[in-house]
Amino acid sequence: MNKQFDVLVIGAGPGGYIAAIRSAQLGFSVACCEFNTYDDPDGETRLGGTCLNAGCIPLKALVASSEVFEKVSHHLEEHGISVGEVKIDVARMQQRKAAIVTKMTSGIKFLFRKNKITLLKGQGSFAGKTDAGYRIIIRGKEGEEEIIAHNVIIATGSKARHIPNIAVDNMTICDNEGAMKFTEAPKKLGVIGAGVIGLEVGSVWRRLGAEVTVLEVMPSFLSACDESVSREASKLFLKQGLQIKLGVRIGQAKTTENGVSVAYTDDQGSEHVLECDKLIVSVGRIPNTEKLNLEAIGLQIDERGFIPVNDHCATVAAGVYAIGDVVRGPMLAHKAEDEGVMVGELIAGQNPHLDYNSMPWVIYTTPEIAWAGKTEQQLRAEGRDYKTGQFPFAANGRALGLGDAEGFIKMLADAKTDEILGVHILGANASELIAEAALALEFRAAAEDIARTCHPHPSLSEVMREAALALEKRALNI
Ligand code: FAD
Ligand code: NAI
Repeated sequence: MNKQFDVLVIGAGPGGYIAAIRSAQLGFSVACCEFNTYDDPDGETRLGGTCLNAGCIPLKALVASSEVFEKVSHHLEEHGISVGEVKIDVARMQQRKAAIVTKMTSGIKFLFRKNKITLLKGQGSFAGKTDAGYRIIIRGKEGEEEIIAHNVIIATGSKARHIPNIAVDNMTICDNEGAMKFTEAPKKLGVIGAGVIGLEVGSVWRRLGAEVTVLEVMPSFLSACDESVSREASKLFLKQGLQIKLGVRIGQAKTTENGVSVAYTDDQGSEHVLECDKLIVSVGRIPNTEKLNLEAIGLQIDERGFIPVNDHCATVAAGVYAIGDVVRGPMLAHKAEDEGVMVGELIAGQNPHLDYNSMPWVIYTTPEIAWAGKTEQQLRAEGRDYKTGQFPFAANGRALGLGDAEGFIKMLADAKTDEILGVHILGANASELIAEAALALEFRAAAEDIARTCHPHPSLSEVMREAALALEKRALNI
């Protein structure tokens, strides 16, 4: 007899593993299938998906190491500290990154055991439906197994999109997987795509000494950010030495004896060749659906490859949900996680709800960029009557003490009701500071609520309060 589960989760990324844990907390019998071994030295199944194995966590480890290197190399003098020659042992840095990833992925295996979640090692694929539930085949190293599940949560995530005629080998021409594994900093690094990965990974290798050229097809970049943030960030990235060429058309990329050459046409129509040691292709990601055999249960993907779902992540097949990168919305780990919690609770008959508008975004550059809610250009397009308040980190004592005084916080609020509509941060620790704004948006707080809340002194968070005060032209320290 086939094993039966109340809930089967397909994919153990941040969407899937959190959905499995929440469903188990709610008393369901839960299984989660995952086939990917990522970089496991023993070829064992690794949990945590892209986020833990080839995305957020390893990248942020490299961001931190490279920021320390840059600080020690260039920013200690102002503190009166001098050091000898500063060297980076990239292999050691990579070991640190790998140890963090191993700790985190092993932690999820522990959480599965703690919550009595059955891990099925293999690739999940629908085989149809019977009165007992959905039939799913799990294809693993040791063969196939068919299981029955009453509810299925598809959380199969996404993979890097590649460009025709540019063969990614993840040695010289890399997507996100190879781009975080270099054993030394390339002298010259080419990046195709000035999106989130291009900027974050490009900045890592720039801090470690690479000359970085980013080739972007669009006439602008950071277009999802508030325009004042993207304007100021572009200036800062340029000052740091990131060369960003906008409006280019990419031709062929060929590996050569010394690296790779990329042909491109600039925005004036002139042709160029960029010679570099390594090339990163970071032009977006595509949903993973090809092995699911969705047709067996009457599901189809949309024109962009996503599984269509409603606001509650339900597909048109009763009891089948899809969450995370495989469905519409931003490709963010915390969005996947929150959808996982919501779906577990829906299956339990609860009435959860997600406000996508208050979900924060962070780009881990130097300085960091973070926002929640609407941008000024969105509010203008909506014809909304709004007011703005902005305050610079340069007028904050804590930021000056830290030596991180670039950037600002900008708050947008309804002109009449004072409800906060959007918060935009360019500055150190923006990733932490934005949580206050997300909470304010969830509570539908007024700017006055933040302005009247006592913030610790000296702290970067005072800039949030000053931005709220600035909405009524009553910032105190400027
Ligand atoms: P995934 O994490 O992709 O996990 C899906 C899992 O399903 C995978 O392990 C896959 O092997 C498995 N799977 C696929 N098909 C099957 C099948 N048929 N059967 C069984 N298993 C299957 N987001 C942030 O919020 N913050 C960041 O700082 C951040 N940094 C990033 C950096 C990089 C370089 C990249 C690439 C992404 C980053 N992201 C970040 C995005 C984030 O990683 C994703 O949004 C998130 O991982 C999506 O979670 P998910 O569970 O939907 O999918
Ligand atoms: P992206 O969508 O952020 O950026 C892709 C960029 O490539 C765009 O600017 C696009 O115009 C450009 N592009 C597309 N085709 C091109 C071509 N042929 N030539 C030149 N440029 C081209 O995608 P990216 O950077 O690959 O990241 C994928 C996703 O991963 C992000 O959208 C984000 O959701 C997630 N991510 C999130 C992070 C975070 O939250 N901090 C960090 C890294 C990734």
